[in-house]
Amino acid sequence: MQDASPTKLLIVDDLPENLQALEALIRGPGRAVFQAGSGEEALALLLQHDFAMAILDVQMPGMDGFELAELMRGTEKTRQIPIVFVTAAGKELNYSFKGYEAGAVDVLYKPLDPPAVKGKVAVFVALYEQREAMRRQVEALEAARREQEATQAKLQHALVMRDEFMSMVSHEMRTPLNTLYLETQLRKMQLERGNMAAFGPDQLQRMVARDDRQIQSIIRLIDDMLDVSRIRSGKLSLRPGWVELSGLLRRVVQDLTPQATTAGTSITLDAATPVSGWWDEFRIEQIVVNLLTNALRYGCQKPVQVTLTVDQDWARVDVRDCGSGIAPDKQDKIFEPYERGVGSEGPAGLGLGLYISRQLAEVHEGSLTLQSKPGEGSVFSLTLPRRDAPPAR
Ligand SMILES: Nc1ncnc2c1ncn2[C@@H]1O[C@H](COP(=O)(O)OP(=O)(O)OP(=O)(O)O)[C@@H](O)[C@H]1O
Ligand SMILES: [Mg+2]
Repeated sequence: MQDASPTKLLIVDDLPENLQALEALIRGPGRAVFQAGSGEEALALLLQHDFAMAILDVQMPGMDGFELAELMRGTEKTRQIPIVFVTAAGKELNYSFKGYEAGAVDVLYKPLDPPAVKGKVAVFVALYEQREAMRRQVEALEAARREQEATQAKLQHALVMRDEFMSMVSHEMRTPLNTLYLETQLRKMQLERGNMAAFGPDQLQRMVARDDRQIQSIIRLIDDMLDVSRIRSGKLSLRPGWVELSGLLRRVVQDLTPQATTAGTSITLDAATPVSGWWDEFRIEQIVVNLLTNALRYGCQKPVQVTLTVDQDWARVDVRDCGSGIAPDKQDKIFEPYERGVGSEGPAGLGLGLYISRQLAEVHEGSLTLQSKPGEGSVFSLTLPRRDAPPAR
C-alpha cells in the first residue's frame, strides 16, 4: 500500500522554539509536519490539507487550543482529526466541551518527554495510515465493482444483439433454403411418378436458374456477414488492379436487367466515357450491385438511372431512383450495420448493404454519399479517386 503522499501532522504553538522542538521530535520518513503559530493559521492549514493528527498548545494568545479544538469539531472536514493537547504539567485540564470519540483526544505535558511524544504520535499515525489503507482498498473494490457492472451491461447488450442477429440471419437464410427445399421435394415427387417430361431441357434450364438464384442469395448473406467481421477486425483489404468503369457498369446493369424486369421496372445507363482506375473490381461491382438492388427494391417500380461522370481526379457513379426517398433523420442511420428501414416492402435484407458499401468506398479513399428527399427518390453517389498503379517494387 505504498502511497507517494506523506502522512501530514499539524502542530500549533505560539512560540516558534516550541514548534521547532516538537517538529524535531515527531518528524520522520513518510511524514510531513506543518507548523502553525496561531489558531487562525492552523484553521487555514486544516482547510487545505488532510491531517493524520493535530497537536495543539492549550495556551495561546487569541484563539487558544480549546477554542481551536471546538472549531475543528464543528467543521465536517476536520471533525475526525485526533487532537493531542499540550499543556503545562500539573495544570487541571477541565475542558468542558464534549462529544469526542474515545481515543480521539489525548494530552501531553510540558516539559515534553520525548519517548512519550514519539509513542503517542506513532500510535495516531499508525491508526491514520491503517484507515487510509482501508479507505483506498474500499475505493479500489468499489471501482472494480463498477467496472464489472459496466462490463456485464456491455456483455448483456452484446448477447441481445447476437440473439437479434441470429434470428434475423436465420430468417433471411430460411427464405431461399425453403424455396430450394420445396423445389427438391417437387422433383422427388416427379421422379417417383416417373414424370420425366418435367425434366426436359427447357425445364432443367429454368430449374438450374432458379436454384442458382437461391444459392446466390445464401452466398451473398454469408459473404456480407464475413465482410462485416472483416471490417470490424480491420482486415478488409483490397485487391486492386486496372478497372474500366463504364464497361463494369454495362455488365452489372445487364446482369440485373432480369431482376429489374421482375420488379416491373428498368435500368438505364449513361456511361459514355471509358475511365480506368486502380481499384478493386470485385468490390466496386459489389457496391454498384448493392446500390442497384436497393434502387430496385425501394424504388417503387419506377425507372432507375445509372450515370458515370468523370473528372481529372475522380470518377463518380450516381444511382438514381424515383422511389419514396429517405427522411432526413434516417439518411445517416441507413449506413449503419443492421439498419433497415421500417416498413420496407418486398424481400428484406440484413441491413448490411450500405454499411459495407460505404466501408468499401472508404478503403478506396473514395466516398459513398446520399441525396434524397422524401417523395422525390434518392441519389446514391459513389466517388472514386483516379489513381495510378503504385510504382512496381
Ligand atoms: N434507394 C433507396 N430508397 C429508399 N430507401 C432505401 C434505399 N436504399 C436503402 N434504403 C433504406 O436503407 C436501409 C438500409 O439499406 P441496406 O442496403 O444497408 O440494407 P437492406 O437493403 O435492408 O439489406 P441488405 O442490403 O443487407 O440486403 C434499407 O432497409 C432501406 O430502408
Ligand atoms: Mg440493400
